[in-house]
Amino acid sequence: MTTNQPINDVMNARHSVRAYDGVTTIKHAEMQALLKAAFLAPSALNLQPIRALVIESQIVRQHLATATGNTSQLTTASAVVLFVNDRENLAEPKPFMPAKQTADKAHLAIAALDCGMVAMQFMLAAKDHGYETNPMTGFDHAAFSRILDLDAERYEPLLLVSIGKAATAGKMAKHKAIKALVDFR
Ligand SMILES: Cc1cc2nc3c(=O)[nH]c(=O)nc-3n(C[C@H](O)[C@H](O)[C@H](O)COP(=O)(O)O)c2cc1C
Repeated sequence: MTTNQPINDVMNARHSVRAYDGVTTIKHAEMQALLKAAFLAPSALNLQPIRALVIESQIVRQHLATATGNTSQLTTASAVVLFVNDRENLAEPKPFMPAKQTADKAHLAIAALDCGMVAMQFMLAAKDHGYETNPMTGFDHAAFSRILDLDAERYEPLLLVSIGKAATAGKMAKHKAIKALVDFR
């Protein structure tokens, strides 16, 4: 259920949470709604190469946690969502585009940008629904592909996001002063 907070409040309240209550389950309809909002994100050339795998199984998550050094996010969250780049996304070749994105390293870099957009929208939508999240790149991509039985040639794991109710509340990270980050010309 959305809290319908102003977007700025949601952005201010989102913090990475690494310990979840271990009991909350998220209904598929709600997860679909969160991901539907996430996939409204823009993508380069509107190619939409990102796919999401929602991993709920406790047994599978235990295997993934072991492969990742037993991170508590994986086992205590309601689910973890693996965002991947579908290298065969271009089902219908477009003029002047490579037949397969695999051929072009630039496309992989752009897919990572696309992934960030989707994941950020997912985390904000989740926060709006009262859930906490944690984005992670620190996992063994090859082990994940193996455990999840993913076609490694086709699907490139990019980002893992845990989602659930916090056991330990997140707190505002230290942020650099805006003056150190922004300049005007
Ligand atoms: C691309 C990316 C990768 C990250 N990878 C990890 C990770 O592997 N493990 C982890 O615990 N946190 C990871 N984080 C979370 C960051 O540590 C966290 O976002 C940062 O410290 C700021 O805190 P906040 O999310 O509470 O604002 C990652 C964040 C981003 C954006």
